[in-house]
Amino acid sequence: MKVLVATQKPFAAAAVAGIKKIVEEAGHELALLEKYADQSELEAAVSDADALIVRSDKVTAQVVEAAANLKIVVRAGAGYDNLDLEACTKKSVVAMNTPGQNANAVAELAIAMMIYMSRNQFTPGTGSEIQGKKVGIQAYGNVGRLVAAKAKALGMEVMAFDPFVSAEAMLAEGVTPAASLEEMYSACNFISLHIPAIPATIGSIGYDLMKLMPKGGCVVNTARKEVMNEPELVKILSEREDLKYVTDVAACNQDELNEKFGKRVFATPKKMGAETAEANINAGLAAANQICAYFADGCTRFQLNK
Ligand code: 3PG
Repeated sequence: MKVLVATQKPFAAAAVAGIKKIVEEAGHELALLEKYADQSELEAAVSDADALIVRSDKVTAQVVEAAANLKIVVRAGAGYDNLDLEACTKKSVVAMNTPGQNANAVAELAIAMMIYMSRNQFTPGTGSEIQGKKVGIQAYGNVGRLVAAKAKALGMEVMAFDPFVSAEAMLAEGVTPAASLEEMYSACNFISLHIPAIPATIGSIGYDLMKLMPKGGCVVNTARKEVMNEPELVKILSEREDLKYVTDVAACNQDELNEKFGKRVFATPKKMGAETAEANINAGLAAANQICAYFADGCTRFQLNK
């Protein structure tokens, strides 16, 4: 079988070497397409592939259509808003992700962003400490739980809101469950977003929630830019000159945000939450193992389009 790794944002070399080893030891062949500039290159490369490993690369209906032999696609990472699941299902292509594998890297970035914003983006001036502050975790999944644990270790108080996780489970980990988003935003100096970009969450964070935050509050977005209501973000940052917003990756209106709000906003130029060798190795190797297991015995653990 031919396994194509297609990454506009390449994996670390050690991850590629590890994927190659797993794939070849299982008797398959590895092909690599990195830093491609256009979807047409992905469509050409995937045309004879039996399996596909991607990161945030867009696996559109057109890509699936171009891949006549494709049996499985694995998103080496958590968020799968880049996969057209309907198109995969239509062509009987199994789609998977690798939940949790890059979570620590993203959690470390969220903590780093809190400190960066508390210290005036490392420019002169009196900043503040995160110890003793309260952080609200919006979605207590793989990343959210790791942010909570690290925040507690740094002396922060942690609250979380997640309708899919019981209050008991949060309390057992020393996290205060919030009954509503409003309660959490009202109480927390930082809000760390870990929600997926789905119809229910897209554009859901904006004026009404941010206006509840205490003085100096900061929203930390290592989830997806799409969850923010960008015009409302401009409105609340204009009205409340104390609030801050830090994001991985830039908002569509980032130029406007930078111009109007200066050091109160910061965006990474390229999504870098999972940009560590460790995360690349964990997620890349997991993807390769999942593909080999599927070909070996039909294992569909982590299938998204069941
Ligand atoms: C994810 O959903 O796993 C993260 O956003 C990482 O995305 P990336 O693989 O494109 O860096």
